[in-house]
Amino acid sequence: MTSTVRPFGLADAGAEAVLEAGDVLWLRESFFAAEVAERRLLTPSILDGGSKNVSFDPSTGRMGGTAAAGEAAELLRGMLARYSRETEAFVRRACPTYADRLRLGRTSFRPAEIAGRESSWRKDDTRLHVDSFPATPVQGRRILRVFANVNPQGKPRAWRVGEDFEGLAARFAPALRTPLPGASAVLHALRLTKTRRSPYDALMLQLHDRMKEDAAYQASAPQMPFDFPAESAWMAFTDQVSHAAMSGQYQLEQTFLLPVDAMLDEQRSPLRILERLKQRRLV
Ligand code: SIN
Ligand code: FE
Repeated sequence: MTSTVRPFGLADAGAEAVLEAGDVLWLRESFFAAEVAERRLLTPSILDGGSKNVSFDPSTGRMGGTAAAGEAAELLRGMLARYSRETEAFVRRACPTYADRLRLGRTSFRPAEIAGRESSWRKDDTRLHVDSFPATPVQGRRILRVFANVNPQGKPRAWRVGEDFEGLAARFAPALRTPLPGASAVLHALRLTKTRRSPYDALMLQLHDRMKEDAAYQASAPQMPFDFPAESAWMAFTDQVSHAAMSGQYQLEQTFLLPVDAMLDEQRSPLRILERLKQRRLV
């Protein structure tokens, strides 16, 4: 079984069960659009040399990855802050039972064309994967992401969605190794992680890598293409939904973290599924 992309209305509530089932909720009409003055930000030259995204921390207003300065930087900061506020309002309305437990994470702007971009296999998001953060461990919390395609030329963002997490986890679990005691303290002491990497985080990183490096899996895994049209938005638990972004340019994304005990059914979380398969606690 693959994840399904399900249409969702701007005023709809009750998204929680659909998200927890591992589906993607798609808003044909986004809650967000770039304003006329912001259109000049829609260029890859807004990036600094090495970055593929502009990142923004809504709690401090700090931006990274951009070459913009002066007035252009303020315009960009304003657009990212507005996207962050509007996604938060949207998610609180769509997921009322999560509302008070969600923690706002980073915002990103992705102005580069994905297709044909050079990258290492590990960073190559055109390969099916689940999301896991190497430097910022989540300690079992869910990764909920809200995306908006703001392409001004009407180009879709082309994704593939893959098999459900239960199937994925069962397939790869035997290859996933729980880390040695002490490993997380070493990573933290070396400042490679911002907080301790839990066994859960270690297993999710391995799952991400084992999926991406397995060419046979990429070709033969259950999967479905889906093109998200320009001016539409979508959200999913990307730690659970196997996904790949094949082409597209100009996207905004907001990350939220959610404790598993805020879910309707935490047994559907990657944390509890991996704990069942590994028969041990992972955070
Ligand atoms: C990803 O999360 O893998 C990339 C999604 C995108 O940029 O469309
Ligand atoms: Fe991803």
